[in-house]
Amino acid sequence: MAAAAAPSPSVSPMTRREFLYYIWGASMALLLAETGGATIWFALPRFKAGEFGGAFTLDASQIPSVDSGPKDFPDGRFWLVNLGPKSASDSRQPKDYPTQQGVAAIYKVCVHLGCLYKWVPTNDRFECPCHGSKYLANGVRVDGPATRNLDMFIIEALDASGKVLAKTESGDPNADPKAGSPFLLPPGTVQIRIDTGKKIQGAFNTKPGGGK
Ligand code: FES
Repeated sequence: MAAAAAPSPSVSPMTRREFLYYIWGASMALLLAETGGATIWFALPRFKAGEFGGAFTLDASQIPSVDSGPKDFPDGRFWLVNLGPKSASDSRQPKDYPTQQGVAAIYKVCVHLGCLYKWVPTNDRFECPCHGSKYLANGVRVDGPATRNLDMFIIEALDASGKVLAKTESGDPNADPKAGSPFLLPPGTVQIRIDTGKKIQGAFNTKPGGGK
């Protein structure tokens, strides 16, 4: 005689409440995964070192010598200047924007309508081929139609261990004349790092010959 089959365990169907609970749990898990992914995405550097938008690290030997004129860094879209006594005593300098001595990285795009201005050694100034705006080596506008000074990138001076010894002052140049200004490299500087992702907008400047 065949043995009686063991009764199968009874499985109670999922209730509507349980079903909604599981759906809610799955939605929350998905939301948390997306939020975590987005956080990691935004925390990662968006641009590689050495490409525009990222940081450019230069040895001290790549910095132009004092008052030797701007040096072009096309990949970073900036001019690197090292201003000294000659620049500081430039008689064309508007009195509202006295030249600070030291290094600065000037964004290569004209603040009028976005053309690429050029350094013109014979006139010792930047000139824009599109509509004629002119700027001194420190980025100060001396002729329009541009209505403000050129934009600057933040520079950090690094010692041999990579420690930051000094950096471009950030802030609004309209409120703080030191913001974005050149600064003297401290002793012990072996490299500078220019962050082309951190731009300081030039101060408002509209008077003929430059000035507020
Ligand atoms: S874009 Fe440079 S002067 Fe107009």
